[in-house]
Amino acid sequence: MDRELALEIVRVTELGALSSARWIGRGDKNAADDAATTAIRSMFDSVSIDGTVVIGEGEMDDAPMLYIGEKVGNQKGPSVDVAVDPLEGTEVVACGLHNAQSVIAIADKGSLLHAPDIYMEKLACGPELAGRLSLEDPVEVTLQKACHFSGKSLSELTVMVLDRKRHEQLIHSLREAGVRIKLLGHGDVAGAIAAALPDSDVDLYMGSGGAPEGVLAAAALKCLGGEMQGRLLPDGPIELQRCVRMGITNPTRVLYMEDMVGIGDVLFAATGVTSGEFLNGVRFIGKERAETHSVIMRAQSRTIRYIRSIHFLPGKEIPDAPTVRQNVASL
Ligand code: FBP
Repeated sequence: MDRELALEIVRVTELGALSSARWIGRGDKNAADDAATTAIRSMFDSVSIDGTVVIGEGEMDDAPMLYIGEKVGNQKGPSVDVAVDPLEGTEVVACGLHNAQSVIAIADKGSLLHAPDIYMEKLACGPELAGRLSLEDPVEVTLQKACHFSGKSLSELTVMVLDRKRHEQLIHSLREAGVRIKLLGHGDVAGAIAAALPDSDVDLYMGSGGAPEGVLAAAALKCLGGEMQGRLLPDGPIELQRCVRMGITNPTRVLYMEDMVGIGDVLFAATGVTSGEFLNGVRFIGKERAETHSVIMRAQSRTIRYIRSIHFLPGKEIPDAPTVRQNVASL
């Protein structure tokens, strides 16, 4: 993959973020998601890839756009797998909360796991701990290993966990061990990434969240030199069958980085919609401008680029999605 592709992709996530941001705090998560999806789908037409969506808005029958198997890009570039979450954190945007982003990962064709939309148990860490932990260990053992390899004491470790009832036991074990817990409302792509960012105060990400989000996070962690391990949590025979239909023959085995993102190069881009762990959200400035914050990463070079863009959006005080799309497409 051409490294310039990273810049093309970030323009797509910028447009997704700008388009959904007009729905911040308006109580309509579907409208926010639709706005991001429509914008991203249209912007993909100008990207020089022969892309196939492997993680997107759902199966063909359920999603009109960015469905699994849909071809995206202008078909003039490399053959790639595309994982896209136009709006990671739909509820967040509807409620005007933190940590919503537009996210895309791209990798060589056949590299990304076709993850069904079910829960996945996750363990993510940064480069210091990569290759040294196991999702199969009890929590206490993972924490001991993390202390040993990071040189920190238990009281100095910080673990991020989605704030959910299903995590009661996990949170209890973490409290018993004496580590700090950062509870996350939504957005576990950003949560898992936080465990691997060089300037982050988070050491580990634990708990279950969406499996598609797990693959997106694994793509980012690969670019950061970190690691993510995952285990699908199919709830009943229907979800088990969905796993098998998507080519996962042993749905409950531990998935490692190569299972989720392959062994080749990966590009990851995200633009903040609302401010979160590592990106600021969209800020509309006066009547004609908006500011976005994005990150682009590439596994091969492990460069992390933060991009602050000021977009010129003439014509409307609160731009609607078509206006945003038109003007950003011409940047
Ligand atoms: P959506 O974008 O689908 O709203 O997902 C937000 C999210 O917080 C994800 O980041 C996370 O993986 C998942 O929801 C967790 O699911 P649940 O809210 O059911 O615990």
